[in-house]
Amino acid sequence: MMMETTDLICENLSVNSEGHLLFAGQDTEALAKRFGTPLYLMDEDHIRARCRAYLAAVQKAFGGRGRVLYASKAASFKRLYEVMREEGMGIDVVSRGEIFTAVRAGFPMENAFFHSNNKTDDDIRAAMDAGVGYFVSDNTEELIAVDREAGSRSIRQKVLLRLTPGIDPHTYEAVATGKVDSKFGFAIQTGQAEDATALALSLKSIKLCGFHSHVGSQVFDSDVFLRAADVMLHYIAQAKAKFGFEAEILNLGGGFGVPYTAKNPKLDIAKNIGEIGAFVASLSAELGIRQPEVCFEPGRSIVADAGLTLYTVGSVKEIPGYRTYVSVDGGMTDNIRYALYGSAYTILPARKMDEPREMIADVVGRCCESGDILQKNVPLPRSITRGDLLACLTTGAYHYSMASNYNRIPRPPVVMLRGGEATVAVRRETLDDLVALDV
Ligand code: LLP
Repeated sequence: MMMETTDLICENLSVNSEGHLLFAGQDTEALAKRFGTPLYLMDEDHIRARCRAYLAAVQKAFGGRGRVLYASKAASFKRLYEVMREEGMGIDVVSRGEIFTAVRAGFPMENAFFHSNNKTDDDIRAAMDAGVGYFVSDNTEELIAVDREAGSRSIRQKVLLRLTPGIDPHTYEAVATGKVDSKFGFAIQTGQAEDATALALSLKSIKLCGFHSHVGSQVFDSDVFLRAADVMLHYIAQAKAKFGFEAEILNLGGGFGVPYTAKNPKLDIAKNIGEIGAFVASLSAELGIRQPEVCFEPGRSIVADAGLTLYTVGSVKEIPGYRTYVSVDGGMTDNIRYALYGSAYTILPARKMDEPREMIADVVGRCCESGDILQKNVPLPRSITRGDLLACLTTGAYHYSMASNYNRIPRPPVVMLRGGEATVAVRRETLDDLVALDV
């Protein structure tokens, strides 16, 4: 009869005297009753705390010469852009859909950085109509198209060039070639970064502001960011020597890792950013360049553990000598990450937290696909049965934003938890929504 406290991997999780899992201090069973399942919950207080922690760390490490941009691909809906606006964050957007959503939320678009390796002419026009502050460009076709559109509007569009610094975030040895082979960015090693810099500087309606790199996602090794900063600052010095161009901005992208299970470490983001700050200051001085304004683009580490998904169990099937399957009322439609990446998750019996977990089961979804698995080998109480509630932790990033309607399954709502209140931010899709586009 042991509650496995090590599974409470984020400080916004606790258990009450009835053995119910509390999230952001609220009873998950009561939330499931009120809003139905599957249900995405997001702890808005936690998101705000993460934004403030980042902003404070960047302020401390870079003074007024740093920015934090929320990478909104991690989770994009109006309420989140409102939160980002209120917290004084910038944003990274990657599509007209994200731009449109941010505009609808009243986000000040001069603080938006527009990514994507293929911005269509329509995207470029829409972004300029919306007053997007910066384009992050990673191909020459885009530079030319942006210059043409900006010229027709008699504006100078601010642009960063996305570069690939040749760093593999997971294996130090692969540094030399690792990430040069990427669909994103101009490679420094091949000389393409320099050609692109020359082109951007020659285009009259483009104002080149600096450079961007993003080395990867779910990175735990803080050394990766220092190595990226090292390569990028050397490139900035090279561009100064070659073109007399002094970069104002160095955007180091996102990627800070988040624990999904008790096995993952917890990153001290303030410490990491502090180290990067000291490194950038000393290397800039050493290279004789003006210290650029440094941007970070965290997505996952802002919202991941602010999210939790609740499911209701439908069946428990034991195949003697093989395996036990616990089927829930969601699956790959609301969480594609196990199917796509084999991602580890912590799944908890939300109203039986005080029972021993002596059964090992695969928790699977309801889709017609064998790969529709949320997690294998999950320890659960033997008493788990139809109608029981399961909580999958750390689902705030890349879950709602990657959800689908496979098998014509409506997407769950997103409910924001703040100061003990629960508010629907995205309503549950209805069956009528599912046929709304069918003509
Ligand atoms: N900036 C750029 C240019 C990016 O490409 C990304 C993520 C980020 C920032 C934010 O990275 P984060 O801090 O969230 O790690 N769907 C995958 C993650 C894809 C990340 C793509 N780019 C997943 O579910 O794990």
